[in-house]
Amino acid sequence: MSGAKNAALPILISSLLTTEPCTYQSVPHLTDIRTTLRLLTGLGDKSDNQGWLNGADELTLRADHIKNFEAPYDLVKTMRASFLVLGPLVARFGEARVSTPGGCAIGARPINLHLKGLEALGATIEQTHGYVEAKATKLRGAKIYLDLPSVGATENLMMAASLAEGTTLIENAAKEPEIEDLANALNGMGGKVHGAGSDIVQIDGVEELHGVTHRIIPDRIEAASFVIAAALTGGDVLVKGARAEHLEAFLIKLKEAGVALTADDAGIRVQRSNAIKSVDVTTLSYPGFPTDLQAQLMVLMTVADGVSVITETIFENRFMHALELDRMGAQIKLEGNRAIVRGVRELSGAPVMASDLRASVALILAGLVAKGTTEVSRVYHLDRGYERIERKLSQLGAQIVRVKG
Ligand code: EPZ
Repeated sequence: MSGAKNAALPILISSLLTTEPCTYQSVPHLTDIRTTLRLLTGLGDKSDNQGWLNGADELTLRADHIKNFEAPYDLVKTMRASFLVLGPLVARFGEARVSTPGGCAIGARPINLHLKGLEALGATIEQTHGYVEAKATKLRGAKIYLDLPSVGATENLMMAASLAEGTTLIENAAKEPEIEDLANALNGMGGKVHGAGSDIVQIDGVEELHGVTHRIIPDRIEAASFVIAAALTGGDVLVKGARAEHLEAFLIKLKEAGVALTADDAGIRVQRSNAIKSVDVTTLSYPGFPTDLQAQLMVLMTVADGVSVITETIFENRFMHALELDRMGAQIKLEGNRAIVRGVRELSGAPVMASDLRASVALILAGLVAKGTTEVSRVYHLDRGYERIERKLSQLGAQIVRVKG
């Protein structure tokens, strides 16, 4: 397993909160990580990542010479998680100018909760010319209620509150394992973050934070994608290092669908024994069924026995993979935020196009089980979140090659 992309991004950014070196292990080799390193070094964070660039999984960052406080448009538009530098920069330097992340393929993805929380901590926020400008003499602890359990807002505010004066409570906080991993990294720096993983996170601000060595948790979304690959194609696969406790809702659904699964310290073992049954799924914030696994599960449902209703409650436009799957012979009817999937005997290979990160892996999964050849274009989406997936899938016996195009 590779380290979790959605834990690594905020954790690398948290290196901005101290002048001391921060060493991170299990850092995955992904486009989004390279973008984050460009963003941080652009601010002045020094990164010793030669080893990582040569394939090692460890890198060190040191923010002892931050020279500017701006996250430019071209980086934020490439990767919206760049917006997470806002909290740390305001907390440590009292100012930040971060490009407003636009919408993206899967939805509008507003940032109102990030900004409302920072204002509660005492920052003044202005939005001009496509940038958010934040200023604060000193952030002060506050009680913040999030209208939605936003992962990014929880992360931005946890990092900002770590250096605020006094105590901050974030209520209705996101509970994802990646939030807990960020809290562990912050506490390793001398932070005082309590309750991460529950819906109330308390952060007691400290004067300053020190360096840390922190290992990123395994990527539960990557692991689950491989579990589905094994369920789809049959066979007997061990997804090494996968932590079942981070995937409970997902594993329950797969068992309901008839997939034989066992989990232990080594990882999750999948033995596809009988036909896949259709199941209904609704995506929810953690610990509910993850929206980042909706596309992958849909593929499994396209070849299941029966009809499955998939309801997407997190993002307003996250069914683009359905239209591509239909080109492969799937029977999917879209009704607002619901997709009605009628199982078919088999999919047929076809040229298809990726639209976003998780849709791209769904199309790869469909290609594994379709009759004939499938060519997925725009795989740059895939490289954002999956490290050398064709190599890992080939190890499992898949016939998959990357065609330079
Ligand atoms: C994180 O995005 C993940 N990205 C996403 O993974 C994931 O799908 C998402 O959380 C939900 O789990 C990273 O961690 C880098 P949110 P984030 O803020 O933080 C609304 C992937 O494929 N909202 O929890 O942007 C928002 O519109 C990516 O790896 C507001 O209304 O997600 C959405 O409907 C895709 N106002 C909902 O909350 C705000 O200020 C959840 O968004 C913030 C969010």
